[in-house]
Amino acid sequence: MALLCLELTGKKIRENIQQVEKYRSSVDLVELRADCLAGEELFQIHKFPLMVSLPVILSIRREETGGSFNASEEERRKLFELGLTGNYAFVDFEAGFQVPSLKEKALNSGIKIIRSFYNLSGVERSALLSSEIPKFEVRPSSTADFLRFIEAVLSLKEEPSCSGRRIFVARGDYGFPSVVLAEKLGSFITYCSAEGRESAHGHSDPETLQEIYRFKNIKRETSLFGIIGNPVMHTRSPRIHNPAFKHLGIDAVYIPFQTDTLPEFMKLMDIMDIRGFSVTIPHKERIIEFLDSQSEAVSATGSCNTVVRRGKKLHGENYDVEGFLDPLKKRLGSERLKGMKATVIGAGGAARSVVFALVSSGVEVCIINRTKEKAEKLAKEFRCKYEGLDESGLDLARIYNNLVVQTTSVGMYPNVDGDPLPEYEFKRDQIVYDLIYIPEETNFLKRAKEAGCTVIGGGEMLLQQAYRQFSLFTGKQYPFNGSRD
Ligand code: ATR
Repeated sequence: MALLCLELTGKKIRENIQQVEKYRSSVDLVELRADCLAGEELFQIHKFPLMVSLPVILSIRREETGGSFNASEEERRKLFELGLTGNYAFVDFEAGFQVPSLKEKALNSGIKIIRSFYNLSGVERSALLSSEIPKFEVRPSSTADFLRFIEAVLSLKEEPSCSGRRIFVARGDYGFPSVVLAEKLGSFITYCSAEGRESAHGHSDPETLQEIYRFKNIKRETSLFGIIGNPVMHTRSPRIHNPAFKHLGIDAVYIPFQTDTLPEFMKLMDIMDIRGFSVTIPHKERIIEFLDSQSEAVSATGSCNTVVRRGKKLHGENYDVEGFLDPLKKRLGSERLKGMKATVIGAGGAARSVVFALVSSGVEVCIINRTKEKAEKLAKEFRCKYEGLDESGLDLARIYNNLVVQTTSVGMYPNVDGDPLPEYEFKRDQIVYDLIYIPEETNFLKRAKEAGCTVIGGGEMLLQQAYRQFSLFTGKQYPFNGSRD
């Protein structure tokens, strides 16, 4: 079973000990990154393992390999010498750092050597023949990089090795899936960091890895699902899907895949056997060319937010459409939508799904948008009225006034002061729906609520489409029945 190792990058020994105490119950071992310690702390490094009573890896990384150590090699050697008098379980030496006396000292003290390689070219295969534990570490900066890493891992993983162990590490947003999937990839250790210390935006601290991703339960045969987007690491979707897998006893995990190029992701999907995935900006349109079949909503909107594998074939759905309608139907019943008049603000990708959803439900729609030509294009396709985001738009919105749907990014975090239609006066019997979910209540919705309107925030739509995705992925109903977000 892959071990979870907390990387300690504090400047002070005391700070590192506090981190260990905070996460002790979630991790198996820790790595003291001595290169991050302030100068006066260094003379204590040999005492550190006894202070934390967990297995400890000692490493002193140079700047070239992602560390902070910038003194001479002689200094580094001396520091390792001091460290190796301590009760360390492992010491991590870079591939080029070959010092026989240190190696001997480690071996004589029962300290196992991890040998770190920072690229994955064929040369490193020889590392498997050594008694040291080879560690292959990269920082992918694209989906293509991550694909190369996974290909190399899969080819190295089954090769016999002298130590019987190997470590694979891909850092950063693109590499995040490898952190969760260490066991699946055959890595002896995976590395995590205290909250807020890595770039993976709140996904790679020990508690999140254990509680949300259930790191310790992932086996080689665990089914893999995920979400692709760019950026994607802010996503809340893993917190929606993973607890539901757990609750229903489904052996599956849902992970964010930072994705810049789709052809490379499709290869990744094949070799990692990803069974299904959510699709977010900017891939909702371009993913369609990779599908073998698609729902009517995908064809009509040119947008797909969910893909599932059926054998070798890919099927696409656009649950933004039904996810958008669900909260309305919950409040009105599906029949009462028919014949209503609605104004849709915006004419981008999200507006497209909304207009299709409304028109298919028998709602009369007008579209108003900053760029009138885009409103015109969308309106002609769905046979609705349109205007710019101006005085004429306001006049039209006053007529199409049962329902107002806000689909632009105006008012979204961090620019929360924005209001796409500040002159618009709400009336109490209207329904006002803003697709933005951060913040939960935009200025636009706040104004509507104050006027007595029924308001719906984008968070509800996000959950509804996720529930539908969950059913498509697993064949089971989402278990928390709308009570969890
Ligand atoms: P999405 O897929 O989220 O809909 P999009 O396709 O880029 O994203 O569409 C963004 C929508 O927000 C568009 O309607 C855009 O108006 P334009 O077509 O005029 O660009 C609208 N939008 C973005 N910023 C805006 C702003 N500051 N004021 C008004 N509308 C804005």
